[in-house]
Amino acid sequence: MSKRPLLHVSPKRGWINDPNGFSYAFGKFYLFAQHNPYDTKWGPMHWIQFESTDLVVFNEKGIALQPSEKYDHEFGCFSGSALTFNHKHILLYTGVADEKQTQCLAISTDGKKYIKSKLNPVISENDLPNDHLIKDFRDPFVFKKEDVYYVLISARKENNGSSILMYKTLDFKTFTYVGVSLSITGEQEMIECPAVFFDNDKTVLIYSHQFKVPENKYEYQNVHSTMYVVGNFDYETGAFKSESSAREIDNGFDFYAPQTLTAKGKHYLVAWQNMWDRDYPSRTEGYAGNLTLVRELSLKHNRLYQKFVPNLSNYYTKTQIINDAEYEVFSVPVDKKYAHRYRLEFNRVNEAILYFTNDEKVSIVINATAKTLTFNRPDIQNTDGSSTKVRTIKLEENDDKLSLDIVFDKSAMDVLINNGKYSFSMLFYTNASPCLTIKSLTNEKFKIKNLTYNQIAPKEVAKK
Ligand code: FRU
Repeated sequence: MSKRPLLHVSPKRGWINDPNGFSYAFGKFYLFAQHNPYDTKWGPMHWIQFESTDLVVFNEKGIALQPSEKYDHEFGCFSGSALTFNHKHILLYTGVADEKQTQCLAISTDGKKYIKSKLNPVISENDLPNDHLIKDFRDPFVFKKEDVYYVLISARKENNGSSILMYKTLDFKTFTYVGVSLSITGEQEMIECPAVFFDNDKTVLIYSHQFKVPENKYEYQNVHSTMYVVGNFDYETGAFKSESSAREIDNGFDFYAPQTLTAKGKHYLVAWQNMWDRDYPSRTEGYAGNLTLVRELSLKHNRLYQKFVPNLSNYYTKTQIINDAEYEVFSVPVDKKYAHRYRLEFNRVNEAILYFTNDEKVSIVINATAKTLTFNRPDIQNTDGSSTKVRTIKLEENDDKLSLDIVFDKSAMDVLINNGKYSFSMLFYTNASPCLTIKSLTNEKFKIKNLTYNQIAPKEVAKK
């Protein structure tokens, strides 16, 4: 049986990585992704297009951008963002050719056909501060503040480290360099794929950090991590003045290059649900790569909270609710044809193990004393041979209660913990059937305050 997720965006065939151009235009949501149509591995980059009206079901619409010009013919059209300007849908992307990464535009009047601008590249080496390198200058993220459009772009420094640079434009013809927003040092390290959203008077800056060195055994366990920092830009100098230290957005095995969208007063995030340099078992089904579910973002006390979009409930085909119960072992029977949502609320952190597949290979172990959650999955190898099978995250001292909101979708699982204060995204490949079985790990029964189970059938409901 196919392990292709039902709800998570994946290409019909070929490879995808980063989400791109997440935007609202012509009355619908647009989401693109880095795509190689010719193979199930990374190759010349195209933008594949998906559309949605509810941020749950996305329909594949074909290829929006492909390598074609002297500035993008070689490695293609790298990551970027989108917005509507003067009733036109504008894609900003990085063209890669001849050891140069330059910023380019593609414009559409109908959201179907995208035409590359004659002005391309609109930001190139002449606009780059001279201690940064044109060979690694990419991932433009555009946003509007007052009447000015700002673009954040990642750039590697000549000596050790990298920056996010700020540019501005009023007309998408002339772009002016503003300054350095953020910088890091570190030999191989590069911060890429910037994104932002604004919550009242706060700005949340999101980026992906290649080769982030782990600071402890619970965080930054991926080779590459994703981070957010809260503060504000100084729009005169470009500098980001942070009010808090950077935090990891998602502690899971598979999460990278998230992109944000603010539409109709809500903030959303979607990420690539994978990681570089892994074996990608879905290749046997003719594709590699999927995106996370879209999540709604909010900020409380400078902390990012994530939740699944409410429209998910439009696709429920079954619901089961249990309140205030005690168990030694508890099981919800589920049908393998569907996706499943499990919402669990515990009054305290119980010692328990949750199995999600009947071969017991996909599980979460809750350790009440250490206040940790340990995620297990069948092994997926890195190309360097290292294993990515077990990972533990630690709750904070003030996390007395535990709530889990889990969408289990064939081979993809998004776990939001304690109202989305923590998140954990992962893929897994096993031939076993899905289930939810919870076992106490002590002599005591575990107490469930509330368990809500939903069966989700996007295609069936969409057909009705
Ligand atoms: C991040 C990234 C981007 C780049 C794209 C290329 O995953 O390396 O920096 O634009 O992938 O596909």
